[in-house]
Amino acid sequence: MNDILKTTPDFSLDAAAGLLKEHYGLAGKLSPLASERDQNFKVESAEGTFILKIVNAAEPAVESDFQTALLAHIGTHAGDLPVPHIRPTLSGESLAFITSTHGAAHRLRLVSWVEGVPLAETGRSEAALESLGRMLGRLDAALKGFMHPGALRDLDWDIRTAARSAGRLSHVANAEDRALVERFLKRFATVAPRLSTLRAAVIHNDANDWNVLVDAANHDRISGLIDFGDALHTPVIAEMAIAAAYAGLDHADPIGATAAIIRGFHAEYPLLEEEVDLLFDLISMRLVTSVAISASRRVHAEDNPYLTISERPAWTLLRKLDRMNPRFATAILRKACGFEAVPGARAVIDWIETNRKSLAPLLEKPAATYPAALVPYADPAHPMTIASAAERPDEAQAIWEAYCRETGVELGIGPFAEERTVYAGEMFVSRFIEGARRTHHLGFDLFQAAGTRVFTPLAATVVSVEVERDPLGYGCLIALRHEPEGCPPFLSLWGHLAHEAVNRLKAGDRLEAGALVGEMGAPKENGGWAPHLHLQISTDTTLSATEILGVGEPRYLDVWTELFPDARTFAGIAKELFKRQGRSHEEIVKMRRDLLLPNLSISYDKPIKFVRGEGVWLIDDSGRAYLDCFNNVCHIGHAHPAVVEAMARQAATLNTNTRYLHDNIVAYAERLTATLPKELTVAGFVNSGSEANSLALRMMRAHTGRENAITLDWSYHGTTQELIDISPYKFRRKGGKGPKPHVHIAAVPDSYRAPSDWPIEEHGKRFAESVAEQIAVMKAKGEGPGFFLAESIPSVAGQVFLPEGYLKEVYRLVREAGGVCIADEVQVGFGRVGSHWWAFETQGVVPDIVTMGKPIGDGHPLAAVVTTREVTDSFNNGMEYFNTFGGNPVSCAVGLAVLDVIEGQDLRGNALAVGNYLMDAFRDMQKRYQAIGDVRGLGLFIGIELVTDRKTKAPATEFARAVSNGARCRGVLMGTEGPHDNVLKMRPPMIFSRRDADHLIAVLEETFAGVEKTLG
Ligand SMILES: Cc1ncc(COP(=O)(O)O)c(C=O)c1O
Repeated sequence: MNDILKTTPDFSLDAAAGLLKEHYGLAGKLSPLASERDQNFKVESAEGTFILKIVNAAEPAVESDFQTALLAHIGTHAGDLPVPHIRPTLSGESLAFITSTHGAAHRLRLVSWVEGVPLAETGRSEAALESLGRMLGRLDAALKGFMHPGALRDLDWDIRTAARSAGRLSHVANAEDRALVERFLKRFATVAPRLSTLRAAVIHNDANDWNVLVDAANHDRISGLIDFGDALHTPVIAEMAIAAAYAGLDHADPIGATAAIIRGFHAEYPLLEEEVDLLFDLISMRLVTSVAISASRRVHAEDNPYLTISERPAWTLLRKLDRMNPRFATAILRKACGFEAVPGARAVIDWIETNRKSLAPLLEKPAATYPAALVPYADPAHPMTIASAAERPDEAQAIWEAYCRETGVELGIGPFAEERTVYAGEMFVSRFIEGARRTHHLGFDLFQAAGTRVFTPLAATVVSVEVERDPLGYGCLIALRHEPEGCPPFLSLWGHLAHEAVNRLKAGDRLEAGALVGEMGAPKENGGWAPHLHLQISTDTTLSATEILGVGEPRYLDVWTELFPDARTFAGIAKELFKRQGRSHEEIVKMRRDLLLPNLSISYDKPIKFVRGEGVWLIDDSGRAYLDCFNNVCHIGHAHPAVVEAMARQAATLNTNTRYLHDNIVAYAERLTATLPKELTVAGFVNSGSEANSLALRMMRAHTGRENAITLDWSYHGTTQELIDISPYKFRRKGGKGPKPHVHIAAVPDSYRAPSDWPIEEHGKRFAESVAEQIAVMKAKGEGPGFFLAESIPSVAGQVFLPEGYLKEVYRLVREAGGVCIADEVQVGFGRVGSHWWAFETQGVVPDIVTMGKPIGDGHPLAAVVTTREVTDSFNNGMEYFNTFGGNPVSCAVGLAVLDVIEGQDLRGNALAVGNYLMDAFRDMQKRYQAIGDVRGLGLFIGIELVTDRKTKAPATEFARAVSNGARCRGVLMGTEGPHDNVLKMRPPMIFSRRDADHLIAVLEETFAGVEKTLG
């Protein structure tokens, strides 16, 4: 103490003014400023305002030299920074040397005065804190590479020495306070060794809110930083830890304040993730250092208000930090710098999104197939919300069930990030922001009856199974860990389950995808809620189940969204559930009526508005997904990425017509003809199945010079007049005018309905006689057939599979009579039957012309005719064949992509395997349901014929319609076909999987059971 007194400068105002004149040639008004060790004067002169510092004689020269060199360096490299800048002495030195009347040697320094009010005295707005961060960032950037022997100091305020606080702990009187500090010290023991691996540099090291000045006229702008007395060489991140520790004092949201500072700093001086990851602990340790030093000084010396000024708020802040989860605080800070809240979070989110189609259903059936609606927890005034918040779960459940009964809803959804008033208890008070509550749901809720079983969408290891007994807690709670290939590990949390899982599962158990996790619990087991599953994902795998934050503050929703991403996709719910797109059904129906041809039909009494297709699924405007087992146009699945990509790439490059050369058309013709028998070598490209058949007829006419047609009964070949004329399905029904004279109709070779006395092996020949009869009719008139045209599996006629030998015999008859044979593969081609590329191949024949459409472009309007060289030569009669769109580069790119996928993924093999699986299941159903008269199919082209009596085979039209509608109600699309509309028709996409098949089988089983009950 005495030494300090002797060395502490004690100059009078006059003496100081004399020094100023002598060394700086300045005169002005001097006023003394408070200082702990030195003597400072404010100097107001004509040349500006300055601070004259007379340095304590006891201060080692190196320290004073260091500070001087530091300020001089900043002056050179960042002269515009609002820090004290050195005014040189008259002789041009940064320092002057003087001796006091006591004989003490002092150093003298004059620096510019920095204007502003201390940050401590202002509101510390977010903008001000960000501005502070920017200023410190610029300062530290300017100090990069600066070094001085004086910077290598031993200082208690150096973050690296923070563990010394342990030695001062005995001075902290209160045991709870000591325990608090010990907790931080314990954490620091693991952090300290990492400090030496971080970037180090000379930093200010004391940006406390008295050293930071704010523009008096604009409190959002930092106007200065003073007092470089604690500067030293240490980890750069300490600059942030210190600024944040002080900015957080008495701040309602200390982590938010820190986030603002580092956001600003990071913009000027990019921080590294490993630095931000330690920040929470370093902030805590700065506070620990502060309270420990204050406690020890209170013992050693008279209370110095300057030293203990931040003691009370420092303790308060330490207690606040102690209640926070450091992982969450760190996530907030990481996000403020633009890093992921948790490393790998985005990769998890992206992986789930990309692989969503391969996830196993979370409920008994895929969740998106249930008619679903939002549970009204977002509406605070809704009786269900009120009942839930008041812990009357049975009442809440009754309200929900009544709503479901009324509307047909089967699944309730509580979305991610929904603001809810149900979180009423103490446990929902924010630990981050004073006066704030946690209000936003971070899980994804699925509401069904208690006992509903839930299954894991992905293989998993059980992390924990526990029961949380707090009211409005989780009840039975399970955490699973998933480590799919190519994805960082993540957790899924399953809350509000029944307690049965506790005895069935234990940590370490392995669950395969689709394995049972648990059952939705009744209120007495699930924490007192209407039964539901709270499903949540955590990208932070270090959190325990109970640490995972189920409800969060809206302010940090962007952080929670990465830590706990929306589990919607994981649960298999479509995004369309949350926002309806476009016009209402009624409006569209009305506009169609006003604006479109009235004879366009709409499927189902209650029409469906689809807004998205994805693989085997079609998603309607309410987000409900339907399994598409009917639409054979999207052959390799809806919106197939390979097709979309090929189409987009070519459309963005060039689209022209066949009058210019292009690679695509020849490449496609080569690939397409390669799938066909060797005789069929020449391709023509058009835009629809109708156009393909029309072109085939032109070719036929050119080749035979004839008009006479033979087609099968109840067939359909296209929409132009000449095709309607040869389509009994059209000309025999409403609006039709019957057959024209040139049209000859042969019987449908339907083995199921063949006369019972025909031996099965003769069906082909016997049905072919009907064609022979038509040829005879023509012959009798001195005419002959131009062509025979048939689908290789008559579909419109009711998924009829031709009896063996039929086409062989028919083709022989037709060709003998001078006609050509045309195979319509518009519905059945492109490997749908699995065993072959083309359905005519199953009959061992080679047509003269093959027409193709629907599946050829996976939904893109493309169609083709492939024929022989012979027919082509006849067609090439001098008249140009031009088709504006036919064979354009975009369409051909699409066609190529479709072939690539069918071949590359062996979709024919898949069609056969899954088709056989389905057929087995349907034949099994036939044993149990009398209505199933016949099951027929090959690959993924299947029909189930329904009859009221298996003997008479009377068509069960009503039953078939009821099954088709029932399946639709259960989220599966199929059609009915045949003259009596009694054949269930299924043509699912070629990517149809075993899992899809199981879903279809389950729905059909349920539907048949239901229809049988109602129709008998
Ligand atoms: C067997 C058959 N051929 C031809 C067509 C006509 O094709 P598009 O509608 O593409 O003109 C259809 C259409 O349903 C069809 O089913």
